Amino acid sequence: MSKPIDEFRRSAHQIVDWIADYLEDPRQYPVSPNMQPGDLAAKLPPAAPETGEGYDRILEDFQRLVLPAVTHWNHPRFLAYFPSSASPPGVLGEMLTAALNTNAIVWRSSPASTELEAVTMGWLRQWLGLPEEFFGIIYDTASMGTVHAIAAAREMADPESRNKGMQRGLTLYCSEQAHSSVEKGAIALGIGRENVRKIPVDAEFRLRPEALAEAIEADKKAGLRPFCVVATVGTTSFAAVDPVAAIADIAEKHGLWLHIDAAYAGAAAILPELSWILEGAARAHSVVMNPHKWLFTPSDLSAFFTRRPDLLRQAFTLVPEYLRTGHEGLNINPMDYSLAMGRRFRSLKLWFVMRYYGRQGVMEILRRHIGYAKRIAAAVDADPRFERVAPVHFALVCFRYKGSNEDNARLVERVNATGKTFLWHTELNGQLVIRFSIGNIGTTEQDVDEVWQLIQCSV
Ligand SMILES: Cc1ncc(COP(=O)(O)O)c(C=O)c1O
Repeated sequence: MSKPIDEFRRSAHQIVDWIADYLEDPRQYPVSPNMQPGDLAAKLPPAAPETGEGYDRILEDFQRLVLPAVTHWNHPRFLAYFPSSASPPGVLGEMLTAALNTNAIVWRSSPASTELEAVTMGWLRQWLGLPEEFFGIIYDTASMGTVHAIAAAREMADPESRNKGMQRGLTLYCSEQAHSSVEKGAIALGIGRENVRKIPVDAEFRLRPEALAEAIEADKKAGLRPFCVVATVGTTSFAAVDPVAAIADIAEKHGLWLHIDAAYAGAAAILPELSWILEGAARAHSVVMNPHKWLFTPSDLSAFFTRRPDLLRQAFTLVPEYLRTGHEGLNINPMDYSLAMGRRFRSLKLWFVMRYYGRQGVMEILRRHIGYAKRIAAAVDADPRFERVAPVHFALVCFRYKGSNEDNARLVERVNATGKTFLWHTELNGQLVIRFSIGNIGTTEQDVDEVWQLIQCSV
């Protein structure tokens, strides 16, 4: 009888071969599955097996049942949301993370994880052009990064709230195009939705600084306490870039915490020609950007930087006796800087990605994506049946068919039903807008051209 580790070795080789075939060309699968909610669940047993099953059977069911229900984010023609593709080096890093299964609660519980995280965050900070005093930490998502930023901002404005609970009257500002995670953060921290001011945007969907200044003044006059402003670099719908420097002026004048949500577009600051997007970020208190969005790192890896780690720590440190190590206060116990205690060895996959591609390799892929987006934008502009609704700074093209919302919805449905691509939409003043969002490492010029032709033929 074979030993369990021999069975593992045999199946692991089989799975790595499968992964390599899959990553070589996910085009063999439809981009999104043709199914209804509940279809997969109905095919699976209602209870887990009483006795164990072999890897072969599990793998067979993965291929037969699970795989047909997968939306392939790794497909080069996946153009919905902000597509994030796993890259082969990122997958290898993730495999090692799973195998090691360390938990970097405190430095002692996993020195490698704690120190590699600090080193990769330092490398990334340099690539993004952020100042050296910024401390970096990895969270699972940008939403979590933003919650931590708001909590640190609250700590700065109202340190009593940690012990006594939230005082009323703190107000938070972001643009009406900001991601819902800002409002969710305000809900979770007891700020309250009514105290989130959604500042109007200009014709290019950027927060209007003068409207921000007016809102803050009005709230102060009403006896409220403005404490935090969130600027977005690469908004979710149209990838607009808020004027960070002008917002920083206002934040400084009123003593507000400035958080920058650069979840999607932050990666583009690696390119010298786009470094302007983070101009003024050195004056921010915190910045979040997602390597799992546009830096070819598998989920879940969101990078958070702050120049006030002291306040972040003050907001979150609470050390139970069983975790006392004698290294308290040395800035090295990750649990002091986060709501979660446990911490995966996430930096390993980013370390693999950054080393494998290097800065030049990453820049080459980002430029390629931006080039494709500009090509599609030009094609949209050249077809009188369509209109473009936003400038293209990055790899996102937003446009609509000059018809009704139903026409546009039907168009997206028809295109997606082919299984050859997957597009998604957003909304602008009640009008449905189609988003053509490029971010996959394997996408080629032929891919984007053929999807555009498909869109044109599906009108
Ligand atoms: C600007 C922006 N911020 C935050 C998020 C949330 O990211 P995450 O899924 O990492 O929480 C998104 C998601 O698309 C986003 O576009």
